[in-house]
Amino acid sequence: MSKYHTHPLSYPVNLKLKVMDIDRSLKFYTEILGLTVIEEGKEFKLSADLKNPLVILQSPENPVIKPPHTTGLYHYAIKLPSRLDLGKFINHVKDKEVEIVGGANHGVSEAFYIEDNEGNGIEIYVDTDEKNWFVNGELKMVTDPLDYKGLMNLAKNDKWEKIPEQTVLGHIHLHVDDLEKNAKFYELLGFQKTLELPNSAYFYSQGKYHHHIGFNVWNGRNIPAPPENAIGLEYYTIKVSTEEKLMELERKLKENDYLAERKDETIITKDPSGSKIILII
Ligand SMILES: [Fe+2]
Repeated sequence: MSKYHTHPLSYPVNLKLKVMDIDRSLKFYTEILGLTVIEEGKEFKLSADLKNPLVILQSPENPVIKPPHTTGLYHYAIKLPSRLDLGKFINHVKDKEVEIVGGANHGVSEAFYIEDNEGNGIEIYVDTDEKNWFVNGELKMVTDPLDYKGLMNLAKNDKWEKIPEQTVLGHIHLHVDDLEKNAKFYELLGFQKTLELPNSAYFYSQGKYHHHIGFNVWNGRNIPAPPENAIGLEYYTIKVSTEEKLMELERKLKENDYLAERKDETIITKDPSGSKIILII
């Protein structure tokens, strides 16, 4: 278990995507990502460990393409347990002829990027040794070339079968319309800023993880949220540690005029750029 994705921290655990073509999406998510459908109906819950959903898919009524220059998902990031798993995954997507749209050694992680069948960005990564993440309290995140050769070689005798069950949603990265407004919101949720790229992107975490949440203004400033029936992110879920913590967040959100709607054991809120978040315990 990743110590940065467990009690008592708050961290993203899953996300729901609205899709245009549910059959093609299910094929992508089971065959390429290697997730397993654990519940089906109106929505389909897909899991790595056969217990907890990682990605939830649903086709909305009258779906439309997400307009450009709107807020929402930049990418979500799947964190694998080991470098061997990352190497196996690279070999697997190459076998399946899925286009790798980018890759980098970020210092804190080794990552490559693909898109799902409807253009949602997916990062697949492993963390490096946490000892080297912060130097004099400063997060050292860089963009160096990814060692594809080394990773693929490491896994050359292993066959990819499915996503490992210890896989987690490592972080989520959003397009926002305003950095400061969102900084205030995520700080209220109890996240601390780990890195600031001025006028560009901010990164937030709990417990000194490099980042659980990133957001940027690369789609433009003062851009609107997409329409309800646009494909893409429906919501993402943040797990908080205790019922007390959840109640405290509900109170703080209300005090600061953010949406805080209690539904069963959860709180539904929205970040200032209109991305829906479900808080669970
Ligand atoms: Fe990322």
